[in-house]
Amino acid sequence: MNYKNLLVEIENKIAVVTINRPEKLNALNSETINELDAVFTELNNNENVFVIILTGSGKKAFVAGADISELSKLDEKSAKMFSEKGQKVFSNIETMEKPVIAAVNGYALGGGCEIALACNIRVASENAVFGQPEVNLGIIPGYGGTQRLTRLINSGRSAEYILTGDMIKADEALKIGLVNKIYTQSELLNKVKEMANKICSKGQFAVRMAMKAINIVDEVSDKEGQNYEASVFALCCLTEDFIEGTSAFLEKRKPTFKNK
Ligand code: COA
Repeated sequence: MNYKNLLVEIENKIAVVTINRPEKLNALNSETINELDAVFTELNNNENVFVIILTGSGKKAFVAGADISELSKLDEKSAKMFSEKGQKVFSNIETMEKPVIAAVNGYALGGGCEIALACNIRVASENAVFGQPEVNLGIIPGYGGTQRLTRLINSGRSAEYILTGDMIKADEALKIGLVNKIYTQSELLNKVKEMANKICSKGQFAVRMAMKAINIVDEVSDKEGQNYEASVFALCCLTEDFIEGTSAFLEKRKPTFKNK
């Protein structure tokens, strides 16, 4: 896997994808969007990967947004394609079989906030700053931000941030549920890897079924969601991991899952 704007490391079933354009604060140009599309597809198919961590290169930014030099050239037709392409790539990240954790290590603005929102779990460093400042450019979020931010933090708060373009510092992001945890910048990646390792130690069939059930929540009614949950719960009970997990508990030992 060789990418111009991404670094990819795989170790102990954890893939770390680093967006690597630090001189542009990791802004997402179309080449980077295409590479993200390719890398997440590849990692989803890689049997050696259980969890993916997404982060940004350097100490200043996770992702400072879509690349404004490209944005400035859009007309109506190309803008629609631009938005739909990013939406598709981010939705693929959100609905992957494997959990994706955003390690937000600095500015997560515009498309940077939106890609973090598409990750299943967000953890931030103390210097992280979130925001949807598109209104300052005469546009609105176009990579799913109006939808995901509103679902996550409620419509009043989401409207305030999207309409004012105000920045959201890490402590506020924690308070409103935009991130799960905050660490110092030097601790961040190791702490996120600890979380990823914990997920890797569980039966992966159950992890993936849980992801599927969580991911359909916005698509279906509560009743349909609960029916789906019951079906995949039943599938989990057919696995060797279920026998191992329940036996290990009853025998007072740690389970060894085979992911079967
Ligand atoms: N698109 C393209 N380039 C960007 C960028 C973006 N979204 N964000 C930052 N950059 C570039 C800057 O143009 C600058 O490049 P240069 O050195 O070639 O001039 C470089 O990254 C460093 O950014 P700079 O603005 O000098 O850093 P700063 O510390 O003064 O400010 C920010 C940091 C994040 C506050 C500021 O860069 C910013 O507001 N960026 C745009 C955020 C935004 O509106 N995102 C939403 C886009 S839809």
